[in-house]
Amino acid sequence: MNTPDSTPLQLSYDFALDRDCTTLSRHVLAQLQSFGSDAQDLSALMTRIALAGKLIARRLTRAGLVEGALGFTGDINVQGEAVKRMDIYANEVFIAVFKQSGLVCRLASEEMEKPYYIPENCPIGRYTLLYDPIDGSSNVDINLNVGSIFSIRQQLGDDPEQTGADLLQDGHQQLAAGYILYGPSTVLVYSIGKGVHAFTLDPSLGEFILSAEDITLPSHGPVYSVNEGNLWQWDEALRDFTRYVHRHEGYTARYSGALVGDFHRILLQGGVFIYPGTLKDPKGKLRLLYESAPLAYLVEQAGGKASVGQQPLLDVIPDHLHARSPLIIGSVEDVALVQSFIEDRSRQAQEERLLEK
Ligand code: AHG
Ligand code: MN
Ligand code: MN
Repeated sequence: MNTPDSTPLQLSYDFALDRDCTTLSRHVLAQLQSFGSDAQDLSALMTRIALAGKLIARRLTRAGLVEGALGFTGDINVQGEAVKRMDIYANEVFIAVFKQSGLVCRLASEEMEKPYYIPENCPIGRYTLLYDPIDGSSNVDINLNVGSIFSIRQQLGDDPEQTGADLLQDGHQQLAAGYILYGPSTVLVYSIGKGVHAFTLDPSLGEFILSAEDITLPSHGPVYSVNEGNLWQWDEALRDFTRYVHRHEGYTARYSGALVGDFHRILLQGGVFIYPGTLKDPKGKLRLLYESAPLAYLVEQAGGKASVGQQPLLDVIPDHLHARSPLIIGSVEDVALVQSFIEDRSRQAQEERLLEK
């Protein structure tokens, strides 16, 4: 090449090659602007979560052809829900990828009553991984989208009873959170408190490649996402909201049965997802530590909001590992609209109580 010594060498690689090198682990290190041991740990942790995502995606892709991949196990989990074979497979995948990693001392998931300890990791790995191995299990057998949700917290103290009592802290304590969406492509979305970023799995490389950086939700979106089949079980405030969106132009309903999929739509396009308390489940269905809190962490990082009604979701302290909470999450204006109906009804109730006295 005829390049004078003073001019930089013109490399022939193109934009696509540069983009394809922005892998998840490289992105985490770049975000932390450090190659120190904490940064290396977090990067290695994310790489392991990504490996779990690839293994689960691989099984889902061929699930209809693999004997024993689909259907129920016949067991009921700690939540009282029927367990699917994919729930168990995915739960075990996360355990397998973190064994002998030296990174994580324990894992806590929807499918296990108590935290799962990896004692050999504990002297060095002070992190805890909380996760929902398969979110939206009812979609598995019909080949619709499902996800995995994860959250990373620092272990505080020694937890001698091994119950995970130190995990009963608010959602601000999360060090990182994210999800993997198994859809037409497999997408991993994460935050370590420096914005929200999405990676798409390139199956030919076997790598998650950066596909959207610094995602910001619109302050308002047309979508409202809620299971209206439960309307008879809701309180009046939620019915007020539903009447409002039914009677005003500009709203459209979307509900897939998988929180990760519904949330992903709202993260990219705006709107609100609601899983309120019901008559049967006054705190709703979604679990705080490994479903609602990780998504609340992401939504706030993306400029949105998450609430349980009249309190920010990230301020809620769970009273046990599998505690549930109502969830209202999405664009700032749409969450505020739902909250305005809740506040109106609570004011009315207060006034009625005063009149009765
Ligand atoms: P999981 O499959 O982990 O138990 O979670 C299912 C959750 C969530 O993904 C979804 O939004 C919600 O349950 C759907 O519940 P309904 O069928 O009650 O609407
Ligand atoms: Mn779930
Ligand atoms: Mn689940």
